[in-house]
Amino acid sequence: MASHQTSLHVEIKALAKKRNALILAHNYQPPAIQDLADLCGDSLELSRKAAETDADVIVFCGVHFMAETASILCPQKTVLLPRHDAGCLMADMITAEALKIRIESLPPMPVVTYVNSTADVKALSTICCTSANVVQVVNSLAADEVLMTPDRNLAMYAAARTGKKVHLWDGYCPTHEWLTPDDVHKARAAHPDAVFVAHPECRPDVLALADVIASTSGMLRHVARAAEKSFIVGTEMGLLYPMQKANPDKHFFPASPKMVCANMKRIRLEDVHRSLERMSGEVKVPEEIRLPALRAVRAMIDLNL
Ligand code: 13P
Ligand code: SF4
Repeated sequence: MASHQTSLHVEIKALAKKRNALILAHNYQPPAIQDLADLCGDSLELSRKAAETDADVIVFCGVHFMAETASILCPQKTVLLPRHDAGCLMADMITAEALKIRIESLPPMPVVTYVNSTADVKALSTICCTSANVVQVVNSLAADEVLMTPDRNLAMYAAARTGKKVHLWDGYCPTHEWLTPDDVHKARAAHPDAVFVAHPECRPDVLALADVIASTSGMLRHVARAAEKSFIVGTEMGLLYPMQKANPDKHFFPASPKMVCANMKRIRLEDVHRSLERMSGEVKVPEEIRLPALRAVRAMIDLNL
């Protein structure tokens, strides 16, 4: 860590203490942010932590929908997103208006919405899911048919593993969609002994080649426990940092160098410092959207998966 970063890091920690703030970071965040955070995790772990904390302020180092989820769960807390331009291209592939039209076009059925979505889309949904619990969430519903939004790849993954009829929304994560079977074959040829771990946001033809499919924290747990020593990682490149940090004796290779989410790389230490100092970048979901969105988020969290 550079010395100016060290002093900034110390200043941020002191500010966080003064504000009684908890700093959460997603597993894709830049190394300096992961090293700063009180807790790093996948979307499910971070929402759980936000729901439980007794801090007054949550600094969410991730993207906008994650800060919104924290605001939905903790209306009495101040939720800060240090960069207002940290969005999610997949969450932007659906609007509440378009979802209403789709719901009206189908027979009545539960709407399962990936947490990577805006609060007003969650507000129209029966239950939320994350990449860690999607199969169990769909199986928890009595219905044989569901509409899943906004990720078509996650929906196809859930359909294949639940046997239910899953109506798709045609959204996707560009960072994961960029990974092709050809990239995986090339990576396997370069690292023939490596285990290929992939995120369920990848395309079905890529997932068909995977040895392990899991959320970002699921992948971290798998590589830590595995007897194998080398891994091809099929998700956003940021995950290689915590993998290597926790397993210095193992080898990690990106499935493709194209797998970078620019939005997940926006937050810098300076942004966290400014946000905490000025209490700027607050994300607050209005009550008329928060309450129906909370029902869907709570329905997921209360399953205790
Ligand atoms: P998870 O960390 O929940 O697996 O999510 C991946 C992701 O794309 C977050 O934006
Ligand atoms: Fe959204 Fe994909 Fe970036 Fe995650 S990696 S924030 S799903 S665009």
